[in-house]
Amino acid sequence: MKKAKCIIEKDYVISETDPRLFGSFIEHLGRAVYSGIYEPGHPSADEQGFRRDVLGLVKELAVPLVRYPGGNFVSGYQWTDGIGPLAERPKRLDLAWRSIETNEIGIDEFADWCKKADSGVMAAVNLGTGTPADAGNLVEYCNHPGGTYWSDLRRRNGHAQPHGIKVWCLGNEMDGPWQICHLSADDYGKKALEAAKIMRWVDPGIELVACGSSNARMATFPEWDRIVLEHLYDQVDYISLHSYYGIRDAITRDDFLGSFVDMDRFIQTIIATADYVKAKNRSHKRLNLSFDEWNVWYLPEEYPDWETAPPRLEQIYTFLDALVFGGLICSLLNHADRIKIACLAQLVNAIAPIYTKRGGPAIRQTIFYPFQQVSQFGRGQVLRPLIHCPAYESQAYGDVPVLQTAVVFNPESGAVNLFLLNCDQHEDLEVQLDFRSFPAVRPVEHRLLQEDELAAANDFEAPERVKPRQAALPRVDGNIATVVLPKLSWNMLRFTSR
Ligand code: AHR
Repeated sequence: MKKAKCIIEKDYVISETDPRLFGSFIEHLGRAVYSGIYEPGHPSADEQGFRRDVLGLVKELAVPLVRYPGGNFVSGYQWTDGIGPLAERPKRLDLAWRSIETNEIGIDEFADWCKKADSGVMAAVNLGTGTPADAGNLVEYCNHPGGTYWSDLRRRNGHAQPHGIKVWCLGNEMDGPWQICHLSADDYGKKALEAAKIMRWVDPGIELVACGSSNARMATFPEWDRIVLEHLYDQVDYISLHSYYGIRDAITRDDFLGSFVDMDRFIQTIIATADYVKAKNRSHKRLNLSFDEWNVWYLPEEYPDWETAPPRLEQIYTFLDALVFGGLICSLLNHADRIKIACLAQLVNAIAPIYTKRGGPAIRQTIFYPFQQVSQFGRGQVLRPLIHCPAYESQAYGDVPVLQTAVVFNPESGAVNLFLLNCDQHEDLEVQLDFRSFPAVRPVEHRLLQEDELAAANDFEAPERVKPRQAALPRVDGNIATVVLPKLSWNMLRFTSR
């Protein structure tokens, strides 16, 4: 058995978590909206056609904000198509996903849905086919109280109160040639700057997210980010990061399990780039990060064009995927000093923790559990532990420590919660947790996600095949707790220091 040591000091605080770290994403894509969150006629549908069973699962995840309406979709979306009387809304070709968009759901309905989900909207504006003026009009429609063309239109459409949307994305993945009206970094920087100015003039209270690189494999990364920020540094509050991990493109299982190493490097590079521009601008402002698309995703797809709400990107997540997912979410927590917003992409059906059957049930995929645990127990002060552990060498990412962890302390309650991934494929790991600066610690629970079959997954026949179970509590001797993490396992350990 391998051994690791983890020293946890309560004064080594990385940062308090921003609740928006536990955000998610709903795009007009596949069945995310239609037969995902919305299905009139479904046995659980409410008076607006929203599925109550899905709302129940979303609430279990305690998601504080949801990015909307895309994604690639937003770069061809006319937001005015989705407002007003249903019968008058046009059906359009969605060129991003080559399907038919019925526009039954638009910004008003989505804002209603978010309220029902105890969440909030993080809106994206169209900087592909859309103009800066369109973006300003949308802010006016959503956030202006009344007495102007767009705000009165919202009132006439049944929403007397403004939606009060605080966070706005200036387009989506504009560095990607796949994006509708993709732009060079300079052209995007100029267009986004003018949109940002108009949007802020309409509502000075909003926060803005600039489009960063679509992923770290882009040939333009990180130059894109530097150039964009040189245009936008003073106008925006965040730069976005997107990253999906999977077994593909010569990525082996060793690499896949070490995806968190790559995510850490991506985050560190973007921080360095933002700080470089800060120095160059002689600025005192610190730019934060919005990791507004992250997940495991590697489903190859071929599908027919021009269907309405087709089953797309419906990745069935395995136990192995949940392990990788756990490693990634720890990386997000460990950068809580700079990552203030993160959106699990996505929330329902399309690469999502919640999976529905049209007319049937909604189930929890394997990745639901690590997200739920971290969302429920990972809020507080993230601590920086000192870790000694063995590593293995992966082809894609170099050395991968076999232990990935995040530690969250709540000084008021005394709770110390640990999330631990043993990504060693061959050996269990004995971990000694040294709580030297705490007066005393007592274990509260050890929840273990572990399966013999890496491909194990949940489906409608066996919806609870993969889920965490209670495991033996760590042995405690003074301020040292010792726990054995089975090979390839995800663990949540909760202690009290009272
Ligand atoms: O989340 C699915 C897609 O992935 C989004 O539409 C796009 O922004 C990203 O490439």
